[in-house]
Amino acid sequence: MDFLDEIDQHKLPKHIAVIMDGNGRWAKNQGLLRVKGHKKGTKAVRETIEACAELGVPFVTLYAFSTENWNRPKLEVDTLMNLLVSSLKKEIKTLQDNNISLSAIGSLQSLPEKAQRELKEVMEKTKNNSRLRLTLALSYGAREELVKTIQDISLKVKKNLISPHLINESVIKEHLYTHDMPDVDLLIRTSGEQRISNFLLWQIAYAELYFTPVLWPDFTRKHLYEAIYNYQKRERRFGKTSEQIN
Ligand code: FPP
Repeated sequence: MDFLDEIDQHKLPKHIAVIMDGNGRWAKNQGLLRVKGHKKGTKAVRETIEACAELGVPFVTLYAFSTENWNRPKLEVDTLMNLLVSSLKKEIKTLQDNNISLSAIGSLQSLPEKAQRELKEVMEKTKNNSRLRLTLALSYGAREELVKTIQDISLKVKKNLISPHLINESVIKEHLYTHDMPDVDLLIRTSGEQRISNFLLWQIAYAELYFTPVLWPDFTRKHLYEAIYNYQKRERRFGKTSEQIN
């Protein structure tokens, strides 16, 4: 089945988030070092982003490095950071050619200086691109994001800038890293694991979850089309009844 032909252009998810999992297992299966899996994973990143841009999906957020990933062996952390820098240098042209803007969420100040500098530069250069907004979650943890949000709002309460009874969902949303993005419609996780791993906890409240056994380095545009097709077959009720929706 060619899933691309089956995709309804009018029902595309506005925001796709991806937990790119399985790089290490892919490398192990090939008898390679884990870091080779990450390297191959960058190809899947490129293909996924290009396919989303071509389809017309306006927001894509990738879990590239979690707050917990700092606990991995130093060689692996260094490799991931170097891959980030080299990919940004290499792919700036792809981003410009495809009219894609880059943004990043997470405690970015924890990243190595070089990565921070490169990110800033690419974000600045691509900020007016409008076809797709690509967001990299880097040193990101959803609980950390919520803690930061609560701290920021509390500070405003203390300064009498906001009164506690006026704190509502919109106020919380305005203080998240993702304040200027829509909620996630479709969350994809590769490699067969079925968990959220501290990713976008607030933003996935009504997301459809899609788990595939494909390891991230093997993920191609065909797998993406299948995920979107699967998403479109579901009935999103947002707490209402089926009759109310139809
Ligand atoms: C999870 O696989 C993947 C990561 C922790 C990093 C994801 C990074 C990339 C795909 C490459 C760099 C990305 C950009 C945007 C430049 P894992 O190592 O946990 O795999 P395993 O569960 O099989 O060990």
